Amino acid sequence: MEDLDKIAEEIRNCKKCPLHKNRKNAVPGEGDKKAEIMLIGEAPGRNEDEQGRPFVGAAGAFLNELLSIAGLSRERVFITNVVKCRPPGNRDPTQEEIDSCSPYLNRQIAVIRPKTIITLGRHSTSYIFRLAGRDFRSIMAVRGEFIKAKILGLDVRIMPTLHPAASLYNPAIRKFLVEDFSKLKKEEGLIDFL
Ligand code: URA
Ligand code: SF4
Repeated sequence: MEDLDKIAEEIRNCKKCPLHKNRKNAVPGEGDKKAEIMLIGEAPGRNEDEQGRPFVGAAGAFLNELLSIAGLSRERVFITNVVKCRPPGNRDPTQEEIDSCSPYLNRQIAVIRPKTIITLGRHSTSYIFRLAGRDFRSIMAVRGEFIKAKILGLDVRIMPTLHPAASLYNPAIRKFLVEDFSKLKKEEGLIDFL
């Protein structure tokens, strides 16, 4: 039986692409192993590489805020990235790196079987759209939509949104992210009944 801890262990020892050379820690991802909602970013940054955990820097602090806007917490979702090791200087991952690394993400999706996949930014959106057999053009054209799709044999809803790192110095992007996560709360019925 495929197991998330085993996948994480393989990722920590992986040398399938050149990104293993500069990493301090690979970042397999973390959260609820039975999460209904999975969030997928691009690749680890400096803080994530230092700690071996996803979204722990400034973008992560904002992601925590967005999750709470949606009525969620990090414990209830599973957070990972398309590429599990940090690209030097936070450059974009190359197609070769994505091709080498994405089988790990596919295996994580197949084990977790999420109902909703939130893609953060254009790299992860374009990857998940490809799995779904959909064309990807621009993130602004699809952000905040709930798109029914079949990926890896699973029926899911994909909600693409912007990358929280892009919002740090851009209030307009921040506003879009808050809008999209507010919509997520409504769509998922994540209302707190007191
Ligand atoms: N940006 C990402 O895409 N992923 C992380 O884990 C951190 C920052
Ligand atoms: Fe392996 Fe992915 Fe890290 Fe490349 S980025 S070394 S494929 S875990």
